Amino acid sequence: MARIVVVGSINMDLVTVAPRFPAPGETLLGERFLTVPGGKGANQAVAAARLGAEVALVGALGDDAFGIQLHDGLRAEGVDTTHVARLDGCASGTASIAVAEGENQIVVVPAANARVTPAQVEAARAVIGRADAVLVQMEISLETVEATLRLGHRLGVPVILNPAPAQKLPAEWLQLARYATPNQLELATLLGADPAEDFRALMKRAPCPVVLTRGAEGAWYAEAGAGPAHQEAFPVDVVDSTGAGDTFNAALAVFLHEGLPQAVRKACAAAALSVTKLGARGGMPRTAELDALLARRAPLPAA
Ligand code: RIB
Repeated sequence: MARIVVVGSINMDLVTVAPRFPAPGETLLGERFLTVPGGKGANQAVAAARLGAEVALVGALGDDAFGIQLHDGLRAEGVDTTHVARLDGCASGTASIAVAEGENQIVVVPAANARVTPAQVEAARAVIGRADAVLVQMEISLETVEATLRLGHRLGVPVILNPAPAQKLPAEWLQLARYATPNQLELATLLGADPAEDFRALMKRAPCPVVLTRGAEGAWYAEAGAGPAHQEAFPVDVVDSTGAGDTFNAALAVFLHEGLPQAVRKACAAAALSVTKLGARGGMPRTAELDALLARRAPLPAA
């Protein structure tokens, strides 16, 4: 059983499904409204747990009603919340998500997530030291992202940096990551480069190995110094792409011990399943569903 630690955000997702996105200033009649648990960190923790990993989450919740629901939801999924702080007088993170035609638009209010501290990461040193991989994203403060990269590196535990939402980071921090997992825009932003630049050139310039996600085109991956290899996507009917990246990252971490090509293949398959249902966690697969898809369709990594 893989042991995974996630350092990241926990949000309540306020999801509105509409026939299309409204123009600025326009009011539109929507089709559905849902309140569902989300947040990149919590989603990755839950996705890893559903794939059979032992998972601990380092994060923060407010003392509001959302905080209670989000905490209970994590526990129900088997995620260890020992290192999730409950902050007095603070709201829990929220994400207002519009879903239309399989795409989404998201506005995140970090609230408690902005107060996940380097001290919390340090307090989780023992569990991080025993982990097979650590996942960290960028919906929490950058000093905590840095602390996670530094501690993982010091302890010799691979840290997977999912640089979303994208910001430019110092090259020195990126060197501490075992892999970064951006999409093309995130990679350009991370490096302070032109997003129109060829993605292979961007991957080559990154200070750490990159696993680049390209939606319906699958993923490209490269170890440092090697040319990129391609993994095709698993075609599915997209209902809601929210959480696809989180599922991809979780599966990558859980299956990393099987080698990068196999981990990327499983990550693409898990991400494909995740978009077939509404909500960030609606379609996140369990091991049996993932195995069934892999058995039905087994595209080989193209050289
Ligand atoms: O990656 C998807 C997540 O991004 C959503 O669950 C939302 O909370 C935002 O953080």
